[in-house]
Amino acid sequence: MAKLLIFNWKMNPGTFKEAEKILGESIILEESSDKYEIAVCPPSLWLFDLSQKYAGKITFGSQDVFGGDPLSGKGASTGEISAEMLKNSKVEYIIVGHSERRRYENETDEMISKKTEVGLKAGFKVILCVGEDLNTHSQGPEAVKSFIKDQLEKDLENIHNSKFIIHNSLIVAYEPIWAIGTGIPENPESAALMAKYIKEAVGAQVLYGGSVDGKNIGNFIKYEEIDGFLIGGASLSPAQFGGQLN
Ligand code: 13P
Repeated sequence: MAKLLIFNWKMNPGTFKEAEKILGESIILEESSDKYEIAVCPPSLWLFDLSQKYAGKITFGSQDVFGGDPLSGKGASTGEISAEMLKNSKVEYIIVGHSERRRYENETDEMISKKTEVGLKAGFKVILCVGEDLNTHSQGPEAVKSFIKDQLEKDLENIHNSKFIIHNSLIVAYEPIWAIGTGIPENPESAALMAKYIKEAVGAQVLYGGSVDGKNIGNFIKYEEIDGFLIGGASLSPAQFGGQLN
């Protein structure tokens, strides 16, 4: 099966012109190998125009979705973007529960569980992010497993309570917080062990994220437990992955 590369641009770039340039390079990368499937998640301001203009050339995802009330798809929620709006653009994936949103936007597990439910029920592939901080990491693998188990249980609570099938639509991204944007990824073997653990716990595809770049991705690719990668900073320079993906 093709490995999934999710390019999370976060709050970048500053202009639509730059966004088109990065997207163009991502499309070239996507076309260079059939071993990978790339989905690009630009900021929502760029997402709609890019997804209309480049439909069919590459897959798109949203960095977030509204999970509160009203759930009708429109209403009095300043600054939010609903699943219905995303349905009307050409978006296939939604990222939920990223640690930056948990930390800076005070997103709780309860909110994330709702967003996961909303995204899955609307027919999207939902990428649920989980991951431990440095303190938990320093307590060893069993502490990490127990932290992740707890996070998954809480974030999937709404899903466990409903009957629809999550298989193939839910994707879990294991992103240790201490590895995000630091240039220090988890060692590939430990990342693969955690991916295996998560896969057995929830039956979903598992991505690894945290300081993956063109130089180190090859060290992770050989582990079949890792179904793909959630990539932040390096996704803004897609050409750097060129030779590494064949
Ligand atoms: P970096 O690849 O910049 O470490 O970010 C990882 C991430 O948070 C992707 O969602």
